[in-house]
Amino acid sequence: MIRSVVRGFGASLPKRVMTNRDLETLVETSDEWIVQRTGIKQRYIAGEGETTASLGAAAAQEALDRAGLTIADIDLIICATSTPDNTFPATAVNIQNRLGMHHGFGFDVQAVCSGFVYAVATADLYIRGGMAKRVIVIGAETFSRILDWTDRTTCVLFGDGAGAIILEGQEGEGTIADRGVLTSNLRSDGVHREKLYVDGGPSTTGTVGHLRMEGREVFKHAVGMITDVIEGAFNATGTTADDVDWLVPHQANKRIIDASAKKLGIPDEKVVITVDKHGNTSAASIPLALATAAGDGRIKQGDLVMLEAMGGGFTWGAVLLRW
Ligand code: ACO
Repeated sequence: MIRSVVRGFGASLPKRVMTNRDLETLVETSDEWIVQRTGIKQRYIAGEGETTASLGAAAAQEALDRAGLTIADIDLIICATSTPDNTFPATAVNIQNRLGMHHGFGFDVQAVCSGFVYAVATADLYIRGGMAKRVIVIGAETFSRILDWTDRTTCVLFGDGAGAIILEGQEGEGTIADRGVLTSNLRSDGVHREKLYVDGGPSTTGTVGHLRMEGREVFKHAVGMITDVIEGAFNATGTTADDVDWLVPHQANKRIIDASAKKLGIPDEKVVITVDKHGNTSAASIPLALATAAGDGRIKQGDLVMLEAMGGGFTWGAVLLRW
């Protein structure tokens, strides 16, 4: 049985760091409030010339280099983003061109903060279906460009960045001892639109719009939805929370992450946290967290890793993979 195995990982962050103290000069807020409610201490903000595609391409190139591969080895690029450089062409195709790839194909996945989980699940199907041998899966965002910088309830939460992994089809035994993606569990439900959305778009206002969120409402649903899809992934594979070596959650808010891990019975030391340094980078947050924890040697080959996310739409999902 073909499994989609992680061959490489990479990350890219904008040059500029914005601390909570910097935000105190923009809106009525405080470092104490932000840290206590979210765990965020700083975030990176894209500057001139830094875009979703430029950050995504840099993360993808790092993943290629780390894997000892070149762009000639890649069949498909999938980019998860809600902040594309342009309405079209797809950011993945822009990245394809930046990487000098003129064969194969690329497309974007739009599932907001769950985008990377959706993109991994999609890449896994292309690989197992025989349509691609190696796929670069990217999560890249410049949320700073859709924030209302006068709205303290949202602008303190988000940041920019990109992460990437390379998935490669390899023969496995068909058991959970295999390396690679073991199961994916995706959900969405548009009934929750008003709780988290962008108030513009090409087909409605003709503008890009700004992110709007009822934070308390999002919080109320988050833990239940996240733990539901993770339980689904456990049931599908016959695994339990005890088997998990690393929980790599979407980095929206440390309180949501802590409450989800507690409900699942996953101890703090098995949870990768980067929200303090990156803020919420939407689709980029999981691959950035993977690159951080694999880069510093915490996540090792053979480890069982649970990815989970929940975001606008709402969308939510989990992927269980063996690194
Ligand atoms: N600084 C200071 N005070 C603030 C700020 C701020 N940045 N923002 C809001 N406040 C005030 C509010 O005005 C309110 O004041 P009031 O009591 O006088 O009316 C008070 O703080 C409490 O506001 P709440 O919204 O009730 O604060 P809460 O404890 O719920 O925390 C937060 C807000 C952090 C947004 C929380 O609800 C949350 O984390 N929600 C989930 C949001 C999230 O994670 N979204 C992303 C997930 S999906 C995705 O990633 C796209």
